[in-house]
Amino acid sequence: MRLDVVTIFPEYLEPLNVSLVGKARARGQLDVRVHDLREWTHDRHNTVDDSPYGGGPGMVMKPEPWGEALDSVIESGTDGSKPTLVVPTPSGRPFTQQLAVELSERPWLVFAPARYEGIDRRVIDEYADRLGEDAVHEVSIGDYVLAGGEAAVLVITEAVARLLPGVLGNAESHRDDSFAPGPMADLLEGPVYTKPPQWRERGIPDVLISGHHGKVARWRRDEAFRRTTDNRPDLIERCDPAALDKHDRAILAALGWEELPDGRFGRSVPAVEE
Ligand code: ADE
Repeated sequence: MRLDVVTIFPEYLEPLNVSLVGKARARGQLDVRVHDLREWTHDRHNTVDDSPYGGGPGMVMKPEPWGEALDSVIESGTDGSKPTLVVPTPSGRPFTQQLAVELSERPWLVFAPARYEGIDRRVIDEYADRLGEDAVHEVSIGDYVLAGGEAAVLVITEAVARLLPGVLGNAESHRDDSFAPGPMADLLEGPVYTKPPQWRERGIPDVLISGHHGKVARWRRDEAFRRTTDNRPDLIERCDPAALDKHDRAILAALGWEELPDGRFGRSVPAVEE
């Protein structure tokens, strides 16, 4: 996969040389190119921003440097290939595991992280026209506002890169990920343990050394329900009831959830004492 980042802080992307992404680059599985947006400015101060039309606080990134930068990156594509443009912004659609999977299937991603109040809208509209609506994604990594999109680029890149074939050591490693499609879909992963069997007088659950794969799988699923009901009750509320077996329903009931008339699950409301 090829990955280009256009930014006013190229040094912010240094972590792309480290760990999983760094190794994928070294192995040639990822071709990462970081570009300084200011190279496409033509004034003495390398200006990339200006005040917003209509007034208001903050500055807006000017369209000209972005247009020249993106044209140059896009033109560097071989055999007429076109990239998918990813624009991190708190106003974008939420970044999810599903979107990570979708992006991991694209051969070429170009990131346009903004600073200040964002990029002049005409830039996004221009590349949606030129590359196609489906090739421009405005993406938010969460309901909070960062000082710029570079940290979001790191997040998205890591989530996407680990899905590329051959990047994770163990091909099975993302099978049980929280949010991975499959029998554990919509459940958070439960706790994990490793050696030693005793640490500071704390042991490990006996079932994990029972050698009984069925029981281990059931225990993991129960723990996943426990963690999900605690940390992400919204995932239980929207989970597909058809995916729940008898034991799942019993666990949910024990955790204080009840089946609603539409088959979905909701937290049981304790009966009010008369
Ligand atoms: N830029 C600023 N905040 C952001 C967020 N939450 N997600 C993506 N990009 C951002």
